[in-house]
Amino acid sequence: MPITPTPKIWMNGRLVDWADATIHVGTHTLHYGTGVFEGIRAYETADGPAVFRLTDHIVRLHNSARILGMDIPYTVDELVAATKETVASTGLPACYVRPIAFYGYGEMGLNTMPCSVEVAIMCWPWGAYLGDDALTKGVRLKISSWTRHDHNTMPPAAKTTGNYVNSSLAKVEALRAGYDEAVMLAGNGLVAECSGENVFVARHDRLITPPLSAGALEGITQHTVLTLARDLGFEAVCDNLARSDLYIADEMFLVGTAAEVSSVSSVDDRSIPCPGPKTLAIAELYGRVVRGQIDRYRAWCEPAI
Ligand SMILES: Cc1ncc(COP(=O)(O)O)c(C=O)c1O
Repeated sequence: MPITPTPKIWMNGRLVDWADATIHVGTHTLHYGTGVFEGIRAYETADGPAVFRLTDHIVRLHNSARILGMDIPYTVDELVAATKETVASTGLPACYVRPIAFYGYGEMGLNTMPCSVEVAIMCWPWGAYLGDDALTKGVRLKISSWTRHDHNTMPPAAKTTGNYVNSSLAKVEALRAGYDEAVMLAGNGLVAECSGENVFVARHDRLITPPLSAGALEGITQHTVLTLARDLGFEAVCDNLARSDLYIADEMFLVGTAAEVSSVSSVDDRSIPCPGPKTLAIAELYGRVVRGQIDRYRAWCEPAI
């Protein structure tokens, strides 16, 4: 999906022109995958653009850095303010937001301790990650031949740049085989998540999503959807799922900042009823919540200006 440039990128404390936000080819993170990043969306609301659960995303960025042992030289409050400033500078009513912290140029080798930490925030307009009809027609999933890395190899709780080699291998394999997205199983064979989304399955009147301990990212959309599902009167829990739970799901959907709520039409060519009624109800409510249309959740929409 191509990036459309916007006027400014926030880099190390100030807004610079899009074309000037460059780094040296000797940048440490380019070589070793030692960065941490976030994916956030700003939505158009009645009061102007608002960044959905911005503070929660920046806290997760800091937590990813803690897991990596990286000291981000800006506080959560400073990065929240910087993100709002960057979103406002685009003039866009809605956009995708990508903060990244990385080890810069100057040191080479695997010891990150002497490295400088740089931070950038870029925004651009980005449509539905799994396609405009991902909710209504559903996406076709393939169980990946690639195993999700575990807590003692590449901690899945940290959104590190290097972790996404695993996701990218799985995504490309699925696309080349004619599917839309890959399901990643953990080393013990249980379902972790997809390459860039958390998984929900509806079975026996329960919604089930695998927990962090199963190798999933602790998704902010996952948490949002668990909350909204319970508000709608559904029983919704974090629990383990086996591969067969997907094949015999009553409904299945994927959630993530980029993919929002996308329904699943099949897993390994086993059809799943799609779009299911629970999926549609949750997607409809999610779409209103992120746009600040429900008072109860307005605090999650953090105004960009
Ligand atoms: C591997 C992975 N799992 C799950 C998610 C969903 O997380 P969130 O809802 O916080 O965007 C993402 C999105 O960044 C992801 O990359």
